[in-house]
Amino acid sequence: MLNRRQQDVISTVNASVYDVRDLDALLSCVPSVIKIYDATSDGKHVICRNLTWVRSGFDTSERRAMKLFKSGKAKPNRDTAQSSRLLNRIAKQSGYKDYLEVGVQTGITFNAIELPHRDAVDPNFLFETSEHATNNVRFFSMTSDEFFTRQCDKTYDLIFLDGLHTFTQCLRDFCAALQVLNEGGVIVIDDTVPMDFFSSLPTQDLAISARKEHGLEGRAWTGDVFKVIPTIHNFFPNLQYVTIRDPSNPAHKPNTVIWRAQRADFEPADISLTDVEALDYFDLPRIENLFRYMDYEDGLQRLFESIKDQ
Ligand SMILES: C[S@@+](CC[C@H](N)C(=O)[O-])C[C@H]1O[C@@H](n2cnc3c(N)ncnc32)[C@H](O)[C@@H]1O
Repeated sequence: MLNRRQQDVISTVNASVYDVRDLDALLSCVPSVIKIYDATSDGKHVICRNLTWVRSGFDTSERRAMKLFKSGKAKPNRDTAQSSRLLNRIAKQSGYKDYLEVGVQTGITFNAIELPHRDAVDPNFLFETSEHATNNVRFFSMTSDEFFTRQCDKTYDLIFLDGLHTFTQCLRDFCAALQVLNEGGVIVIDDTVPMDFFSSLPTQDLAISARKEHGLEGRAWTGDVFKVIPTIHNFFPNLQYVTIRDPSNPAHKPNTVIWRAQRADFEPADISLTDVEALDYFDLPRIENLFRYMDYEDGLQRLFESIKDQ
């Protein structure tokens, strides 16, 4: 689909106004001047292949169609403290000491973490790291690959992975992080569930420009990090995980919490690594059960119960 981007039009539609799962009904309200050869929907977005706008200037039904294809819902503001809140809660409960964050940017999360030792890795820090550096707060201005292969000199209780948002890089970061995770430690991967189709595009530039093309704003980009979760599900039976979502907080982005423990209920899904790589945003409803979604408190309870004896 992405290779044929020129021919594809992707739009966010207002699911409360249009039943976008009923594609026949949806297409019947599109005026004939718009030719749609193929369309698919996940209930929130419609992707139309070979869609052609023949002319501009709209009558009522065209206005309706236009609204349908261009009405992006206002996105809630990001809750910038949600990651540090979660990480501090896990750290406190488990008496952790050593923290590593991969992908730190402005330090919103990193600088709010209350652990005695903190290491930060980012090739492009967006704040004056020297103002925060001490013997126990270290900044590694480099890629995660460089850090894990050449600089990493210790192990950690808590690791937050929020670096380059691609499946390949995130999976590599995850595998490297497992090697330096202490017994009883936890890895949290951020942005494991794209908030919309645009967020799941392969680069942030593309996410921003594709939104713009469709009259939408926003910079959110989670890439295809979501593919790491079916990979963990199928290929790491000795890891437990939950993807935490917080329905009480509309600005909450789900993230996935992973720890070492045999998964007694392990049952690989019928999906190969090649299949995982080929997944896209519209496959998400089909693989939803692999994310092991839990509400905030229930997810944390599951974690704390499981690691308390380790
Ligand atoms: C989403 S931001 C991190 C946000 C931060 N964790 C927070 O909670 O505020 C992603 C960061 O990953 C960094 N990054 C990109 N490629 C990376 C790589 N290969 N290794 C480590 N960090 C990388 C970017 O420079 C960017 O600052």
